[in-house]
Amino acid sequence: MNPKQEIENQKQFIQKVKEINQGKNKTYAIFTMGCQLNENDSEKMSGMLEEMGYDKVEDLKEADVVVFNTCCVRENAEDKLFGKLGELKKIKEEKGTIIAIGGCMMQEKHITDKIKESYPFVDLLFGTHTLHKIPQDLYEVIVQKQKQEDIMDIDGKVYEGLPIKRESELKASVTIMNGCNNFCSYCIVPYVRGRERSRHPKDIIQEVEALAKKGYKEITLLGQNVNSYLREEREKHIPFETYQNVNSFATLLRAINKIDGIERIRFVSPHPKDFTEDVIEAIRECDKVCKLIHLPLQAGSTSVLKQMNRKYTKEQYLELVEKMKATIPHLTLSTDIIVGFPGETEEDFEETLDVVKKVGYEQVYMFIYSRRVGTPGDKMEHQIPEEIKHERFNRLKELVERNIYETNETYIGTKQRILVEGKSKTNAQMLTGRTDSNKVVVLEGNDEWIGQMLTVEITSQHMWYLKGEKVEK
Ligand code: SAH
Ligand code: SF4
Ligand code: F3S
Repeated sequence: MNPKQEIENQKQFIQKVKEINQGKNKTYAIFTMGCQLNENDSEKMSGMLEEMGYDKVEDLKEADVVVFNTCCVRENAEDKLFGKLGELKKIKEEKGTIIAIGGCMMQEKHITDKIKESYPFVDLLFGTHTLHKIPQDLYEVIVQKQKQEDIMDIDGKVYEGLPIKRESELKASVTIMNGCNNFCSYCIVPYVRGRERSRHPKDIIQEVEALAKKGYKEITLLGQNVNSYLREEREKHIPFETYQNVNSFATLLRAINKIDGIERIRFVSPHPKDFTEDVIEAIRECDKVCKLIHLPLQAGSTSVLKQMNRKYTKEQYLELVEKMKATIPHLTLSTDIIVGFPGETEEDFEETLDVVKKVGYEQVYMFIYSRRVGTPGDKMEHQIPEEIKHERFNRLKELVERNIYETNETYIGTKQRILVEGKSKTNAQMLTGRTDSNKVVVLEGNDEWIGQMLTVEITSQHMWYLKGEKVEK
């Protein structure tokens, strides 16, 4: 079956499950781990489950169907999953909950083996390439009353037209490509998500147009390496019917920038090695593209970067940052950093601190290196002892927090455009929004402002958020 037929086939299973569920007030809950791609996948799972007649509940213990959407990029997620499964065992015995586990962890054989052995009460295991088959798999579980395992070890296809139920009515994530070809030596993602495959520009543009019509204001384009969007098609001259002249990430940004109603465009993650000039130009020229760029560094030392297979040096990274800063007015940057990669010396680590000082990031997502079975990093000599990893992590954290404090100070007294996103979670009297640079701003105001772009003056800073007041333009 081709992807289109496959989706039609799944729609029939959606109807079948819906008929079974009619009038039964069935519910579902999803527990999502990992990155924004997984969150977006969970929205698709929700879409399918809602069409099958399930209503969403937050508490896993209440739900008739529980879905875990797993991540395996770092170790701690495994303990979390097994803990939750342990908690659900008794509940399942009492009320017959259907338990399904999907996502990246399911593409790892040692994990699925462990689940089958230690948690035999799980009903359905599905992988990253079989997400669209939830309706059929669930139908089999319900009707055949048999456990299902639906995991494929392939590069996957692009499936369009799945139903989707989004978390927000203002901000939407749009996956533009799946998979990764980079094989950074610490990373499991290429093994569990398969090779890069881009969605057709037409499908992406039409999805964003539909979102704009529904009132969405902010779009985040997602992919493991967004700036290699359509690269294979271009490099291998694969015949490709383009849409609105989109044949690269830069041209995609330009096309989306033209869509009326969308106010902001963000994207994660680009790879520094693929950050070509046309993308820098597009960011500069597209008024809706936020000037906060997430540019994963991972490590500051050239020799560690080489071991990590990142394909750039410290100097090349810094040059890229300089070029971007020189080209794009008001540019801000955020990054990902791993500490304690095998072989990282004290001098190497200091190179990381040096880059952090030189670039002056708006935000740094910091990770302690975690060995992943099947990656080259796991087999490397000179693994760093836990206490050294933690000590380095704390030193980096201290520097990052000092930088954030200092950067926040520079916001005080400035005017910022924010998108008001809703009421503050901690104080219902206040509203929250975000700046172009993704800083949270809390302000007094009325509910009619929700969903609007406003100009505010920043009056104070509180480390993880700023306070502001609306100003007349
Ligand atoms: N494709 C994206 C994101 C990949 S996963 C990118 O290249 O930026 C998100 C982040 O998790 C990575 O950027 C990296 O900093 C971190 N990460 C990945 N594997 C890791 C590991 N084994 N241990 C610790 N952190 C890891
Ligand atoms: Fe992992 Fe590297 Fe691919 Fe990002 S680019 S997903 S870090 S292999
Ligand atoms: Fe995790 Fe898979 Fe994302 S491993 S980080 S959920 S792509």
